[in-house]
Amino acid sequence: MKIGIIGAGKIGATIAQLFVAAGHDIAISNSRGPESLRPLVQELGAKARATSVDEACTFGEVVLLAVPWHREDALPSPERLRGKIVIDAMNPYDLAGGFFDLHGSTSSEIVLKRIPGARLVKAFNTIYYEHLSTRGRKELPVQERHAIYLAGDDAQAKEVVAHLIEEIGFAPVDTGSLHEGGQLQQPDSIIYNQTFSAREARSFLRNQLHKIVDSLPDSALAQALEILNRHKT
Ligand SMILES: NC(=O)c1ccc[n+]([C@@H]2O[C@H](COP(=O)([O-])OP(=O)(O)OC[C@H]3O[C@@H](n4cnc5c(N)ncnc54)[C@H](OP(=O)(O)O)[C@@H]3O)[C@@H](O)[C@H]2O)c1
Repeated sequence: MKIGIIGAGKIGATIAQLFVAAGHDIAISNSRGPESLRPLVQELGAKARATSVDEACTFGEVVLLAVPWHREDALPSPERLRGKIVIDAMNPYDLAGGFFDLHGSTSSEIVLKRIPGARLVKAFNTIYYEHLSTRGRKELPVQERHAIYLAGDDAQAKEVVAHLIEEIGFAPVDTGSLHEGGQLQQPDSIIYNQTFSAREARSFLRNQLHKIVDSLPDSALAQALEILNRHKT
């Protein structure tokens, strides 16, 4: 695939390296322009090129956002991303190292408001870049690999991103919609920065569900019964 990358720091450069190793073509960009990325692309080899942010968007069938979340100016204009699969790896840290108050929303929902029409998938935001760099294991069965979570409302886009995650030796674990799954992937959540395999992650999440079953409010019971009915053996 052709993949555009906005942000060439710890997470952008790491993912660029993994995608190139998996056989993809990448265009990578930062705030200082292509010339500043010359050493990086030389290291990445012939499948990588340094471009402007706009060119990276035009180039990519998939575009990765890996810039500080609060830097609204780093996001390309919506027209450049309309209809494209966009991976949001960003977290809403403020300059003091805390988090912005999102008033019940998720940072990815806010990103999507800034780039309406993009097929947004929240992924890669819960994994530390050094783990990303070192923990991919293509030789392991997918369930045993390090989990990378993804959330979104576009099932097809999620499938593409899940496939990319598998190709670089990790296990995609779908957390649901951009709102609900996105909440689960926020920096203060129970799975953030955990080093679970996919099997461990699913078992951990099942356990969490188990814990709340007894205290489920009546209002949620009908919905839970619907799920139970759908999955009864
Ligand atoms: N570090 C991690 O382990 C990790 C893990 C998961 C998710 N994340 C998330 O990924 C995002 C990037 O984190 P990072 O650790 O990679 O940060 P980083 O190392 O500081 O890199 C940030 C990148 O964003 C670029 N950038 C900043 N403003 C820009 C603009 N206006 N236009 C274009 N590019 C711009 C920077 O370019 P210049 O250098 O030219 O300014 C730099 O390449 C953050 O939202 C973070 O929360 C990080």
